[in-house]
Amino acid sequence: MNSSSSYWENYYSKHREPSNCSPFAEFVTPFLKDGKRLIEFGCGNARDSKHFAQQGVNVLAIDQCEKEIAYLTEKFEETKNLNFLAADMTNLSELEKSDFLYSRFTIHAINKQGEEKLIKWASNNLKTDGLFFVEVRSVKDELFGVGKALPDNAFFSDHYRRFIVLKELNNRFSENGFEILYSLESKGLAPYKTEDPVVIRIIVQKK
Ligand SMILES: C[S@@+](CC[C@H](N)C(=O)[O-])C[C@H]1O[C@@H](n2cnc3c(N)ncnc32)[C@H](O)[C@@H]1O
Repeated sequence: MNSSSSYWENYYSKHREPSNCSPFAEFVTPFLKDGKRLIEFGCGNARDSKHFAQQGVNVLAIDQCEKEIAYLTEKFEETKNLNFLAADMTNLSELEKSDFLYSRFTIHAINKQGEEKLIKWASNNLKTDGLFFVEVRSVKDELFGVGKALPDNAFFSDHYRRFIVLKELNNRFSENGFEILYSLESKGLAPYKTEDPVVIRIIVQKK
């Protein structure tokens, strides 16, 4: 777990119910296929995982927030293609290989060593030609520099955020056997209340 796990437990105790899916989930939907297996890292209240399951995808939604995962497990007990796991995504055991992996606003929530472990795990647990979809905060985000400075472009305000350099993340995927299919860094992708952060979107394919 990380130093922000209690922040997220507290946040989701007040945001229990899955809200509308994110614009990134809508962007990803046309790439998915009915009956295929998707793992989401850091699902929060499962708003995107719920949406994917509604498209007929078999979803395993992972988050470190044990109470929220317990709540969602019970809530979606009857939904056979939507399952949950309370776990640290930087320290996962081997699972059945997946067709798709999905991470929205979670790679900036873990440190650099965690990112290395996650991407290595992804390389071993995604089928050949499988796709990994990532949306994450960029170093060009306005929040960069806010809070206490930590190593590797990270800052701690009310929780930990490590801002990402697009080229470095793409290199990390390339070094782990992925081909970069799509890569974009822009505003306008993840507006939230009054914020419009510069975010990175990438799609990589396991070779
Ligand atoms: C900004 S929220 C994003 C939630 C969701 N993906 C969304 O877009 O609505 C970050 C989530 O990542 C989870 N998270 C952070 N570090 C984690 C870790 N090491 N293992 C599992 N989940 C983690 C947090 O608990 C939180 O639910």
